[in-house]
Amino acid sequence: MKIKLENICKTYENTQVVKDVSMKIEDGEIMVLLGPSGCGKTTLLRMIAGLISITQGKILFNDVDVSSFPPQKRNTAMVFQNYALFPHLNVEENISFGLKVRKLPTSKISEMVAKIIKSVELEGLEKRKIQELSGGQRQRVALARALVIKPDILLFDEPLSNLDEKLRVSMRQSIKKLQRELGITSIYVTHDQEEAMSIADRITVMNKGEIQQCASPNEIYRNPKNSFVASFVGQANLFNCQVQNNSKMKYINVFNKKINIKNDINDETVTAMIRPEHLHIDKYKGEVEGVVDFKEELGLITRYQIKIGQENISLDELNASEHHTLVVGEKIFISFGDNDVVILKEQ
Ligand SMILES: Nc1ncnc2c1ncn2[C@@H]1O[C@H](COP(=O)(O)OP(=O)(O)OP(=O)(O)O)[C@@H](O)[C@H]1O
Ligand SMILES: [Mg+2]
Repeated sequence: MKIKLENICKTYENTQVVKDVSMKIEDGEIMVLLGPSGCGKTTLLRMIAGLISITQGKILFNDVDVSSFPPQKRNTAMVFQNYALFPHLNVEENISFGLKVRKLPTSKISEMVAKIIKSVELEGLEKRKIQELSGGQRQRVALARALVIKPDILLFDEPLSNLDEKLRVSMRQSIKKLQRELGITSIYVTHDQEEAMSIADRITVMNKGEIQQCASPNEIYRNPKNSFVASFVGQANLFNCQVQNNSKMKYINVFNKKINIKNDINDETVTAMIRPEHLHIDKYKGEVEGVVDFKEELGLITRYQIKIGQENISLDELNASEHHTLVVGEKIFISFGDNDVVILKEQ
């Protein structure tokens, strides 16, 4: 099922919480909505499900305008952070609930429930009450309950937020695999950038009710459109630079290194970004001298804050590298490649 949102707005009293949102989601695609708390992710999801009205705009499923359809006519299923399961029913009864409401024959229901229980790996727990399950198992029941009705569209609202880190990682892999297998068009809301990168075909980054950028995880990370996206997805060192001209080229100075920029940039200043993993340390020689100001051990990497003149920058070293043992106060040199300086398109 293809989804198209055309100029969607939502206003509560006098406050616009979703502002002119347009996007297309392809059949079978998993689109992640990523953004800080209060940016309008849940509101947008609930408008797509038909649970709240839209103030302005259009929602199309396979080119059919469903904007005025009630939720039951849209054939979407939702998976929530708090599971929203029936505590007095067991696993099997929770999963079959939607099928019973649809009055399917009992034998058909048993067959469908057994199949879905297998695919979410809940075999053996069919008769358990919800209180007798772990968080991860509860979320599998919620997922099975959503999948069993064979929805055209799956909507996830921070489904993994209540789980611990390890379980979140394994559940997000299960969700992605199942979504791939079943090919159900999905929208997945999260404010966790790592989860977004791992699960998405494409990510829509939102802030204050507006779309900032919509692209593949790789594109968002490598070529963020503005400083909000650059800082929200991953770590970013941002520099405001004066654009300079010589006879042939436009360029900027980043730590006194001349970086050529495209001639079609007409702004007087631009924001340049360097990711922390693109800065390299040399202990003995280099063009840019700095001092280790702060150090954080993060397991896979060590994250340093390096003071260079008045600037403080973030720099990541793999713990496998020879430079992960620097101490605060140590003098070092840093370097970076010209291609690792990314010019953001918008301020
Ligand atoms: N029923 C309502 N009446 C008035 N304002 C509302 C209502 N529902 C949501 N809002 C406001 O709309 C904005 C967007 O809320 P929404 O729940 O969509 O954010 P969110 O991105 O899902 O945030 P979170 O990550 O915290 O879940 C918030 O400022 C919220 O206070
Ligand atoms: Mg929300």
